[in-house]
Amino acid sequence: MTASDPEQLLRTRCSTLPLVEVRYSAVTGSTNDDALNWLEAGAADGSLVVADQQTTGRGRLQRRWITEPGAALAFSLILRPTPAETVHLALFAPLAGLAVADGLAICCGLTAAIKWPNDVLLNNRKACGILAETTWQGDRIAGVVLGIGVNVAPSAVPPAETLMFPAISIEEVTGRPVNRWDLLAAILQAVFSWRQKLGNREFFQSWEDRLAFKGEPVQIQAPDGKLEGQLVGIDPHGNLLLRTAAGKMEVITAGDVSLRPAEKS
Ligand code: ATP
Ligand code: BTN
Repeated sequence: MTASDPEQLLRTRCSTLPLVEVRYSAVTGSTNDDALNWLEAGAADGSLVVADQQTTGRGRLQRRWITEPGAALAFSLILRPTPAETVHLALFAPLAGLAVADGLAICCGLTAAIKWPNDVLLNNRKACGILAETTWQGDRIAGVVLGIGVNVAPSAVPPAETLMFPAISIEEVTGRPVNRWDLLAAILQAVFSWRQKLGNREFFQSWEDRLAFKGEPVQIQAPDGKLEGQLVGIDPHGNLLLRTAAGKMEVITAGDVSLRPAEKS
């Protein structure tokens, strides 16, 4: 390991953060899979898995997440929620969204939007995807893995024709190089800070302030069809509120649904 190799730079940058242990791979399948295995083997709260490249990176519903070497952030943070935090389990993914938005503001001076429930957008394009996974021991929560992928350099962005939602990298917006590990540290710092506020007023206010497409016509795509309406906001459980053309308020729970701007007629 030399002073300029990525792992050493990462370890130096993480040394001031409240992390228990950091595992780095130049190439792995999926940092979420590595973190889930580590959790199973007893990893402590605050353990972190980072990879330069993923070969089987995952989104929701077994969709693929592409991580090209040297171009992106791909990491998974292991948390062991306290009983009080367990009440707000569904809010860990939005917590990650808030933390990425904060990290982009602090590290890169960018204003990001959060596409409900937790994609992070720049210029209405996806710059970051989040996959939060929970493991159980019987009816008790064993842990949460917060998996975060960020497109930093333009080469991180997959070809447009392969994507279900347009994507972008951070450097395409800043127009200058961004240090991946500075951004990682800013995001993690923000994760620890938002964790203290999980589910409180400031948490929801900040989430709603950053909500992409707020007040705009959107559609919710679900396996059994589409629902159109105006995006009103989020409720105290993190559900999306949508007002249909007939004036009915629909409450949408995160899951097997996708939010899209409404198709222009
Ligand atoms: P939705 O937009 O429907 O809410 P999602 O954001 O939760 O979906 P997933 O369902 O997890 O996304 O699927 C991952 C999506 O991200 C896939 O559509 C895939 O094409 C796309 N994708 C894969 N790699 C990247 C990347 N590096 N940058 C942006 N998008 C990517
Ligand atoms: C999404 O598409 O919205 C979710 C993508 C999540 C990608 C990250 S990259 C780090 C971690 N490892 C994975 O396999 N997935 C997550």
